[in-house]
Amino acid sequence: MNTVWSDHVQGIDTLYLSRQLRFDDYFKMRYLPAFSLDPDRKLRILEIGCGPGALAQALNRWYPHAEITAVDRDSAFITYAKEKVPRVTFMEGDATHLPFEDGSFDVTISNTVSEHIEPSAFYGEQRRVLKEGGICLVLSARRGYNHRADCLAENEYEKQFWAKIQKYDHSMEEYQVCQYPLSEKEHPAVMTEYGFVNVSCSYAVIDLTPDDPKYPEDMALRMIEAGRGNDLDAVLRAGKTLPEHVSKNEIEKMIRIVNEKYDKRIDQYLRGIKQWNTSVSITMIVRGEK
Ligand SMILES: C[S@@+](CC[C@H](N)C(=O)[O-])C[C@H]1O[C@@H](n2cnc3c(N)ncnc32)[C@H](O)[C@@H]1O
Repeated sequence: MNTVWSDHVQGIDTLYLSRQLRFDDYFKMRYLPAFSLDPDRKLRILEIGCGPGALAQALNRWYPHAEITAVDRDSAFITYAKEKVPRVTFMEGDATHLPFEDGSFDVTISNTVSEHIEPSAFYGEQRRVLKEGGICLVLSARRGYNHRADCLAENEYEKQFWAKIQKYDHSMEEYQVCQYPLSEKEHPAVMTEYGFVNVSCSYAVIDLTPDDPKYPEDMALRMIEAGRGNDLDAVLRAGKTLPEHVSKNEIEKMIRIVNEKYDKRIDQYLRGIKQWNTSVSITMIVRGEK
């Protein structure tokens, strides 16, 4: 039972809620032209490092004829995804030793996974399980922009809590997170180096700005709740990762503070008191063919 990522790197809610928003149907046309897949074909799609399943869930809506399989080595993500997304086959598996025969899939896809896996294994395994002419899609996050609402600013207690966590937390190195980052220039070059052809790249820009009237209320509220999920997860993860440095009381107090702030933010939104906080994410989509 491997739950290293969900326990110490990114919590289930953080990943699911934030990805569910970014892969909402509202943004579908930011991705589909870059994917350039035939929606009428019965494609066999494999998602690598699927986390709690939000991209697989979107693919299932966008390509209703496709047969989708998704693997991740974190068992808590897989258990969660199986419950949330019944029409996809989720399984535990290692991207460097995929449990599939050569030439099994028409498409492989991943989101924010390539930077964590050594490239020859990451691309080599995908190339092996793809059919001739199969398509490899690699999505990776680029530097975006974040502006927090004033009412969500950290108070002195929170600042001290996070300063202490920063001092003791070495989980990123310990769990080998982001050991293989690639620049915008390197990404398509590396895909080419590992044998893919017709390599192209595109960028999907998504702005999550709850106060913007273009977003319906339910979506704006989901944006705010995704922030709450993210902040609460960070506190809970700190408790799991550094139990010797943070007490149960400190965690409980932090959870109370976070919830009060987000309750206030929601109240402001519902009363039309604009904060104009935003989170702009840029996803690079590199596409190659076997
Ligand atoms: C940044 S998360 C992204 C998760 C998901 N793609 C998403 O966007 O929500 C990276 C994921 O890669 C998975 N992962 C890392 N190395 C892996 C490996 N060798 N095999 C399978 N999964 C792996 C982690 O468990 C984690 O779920």
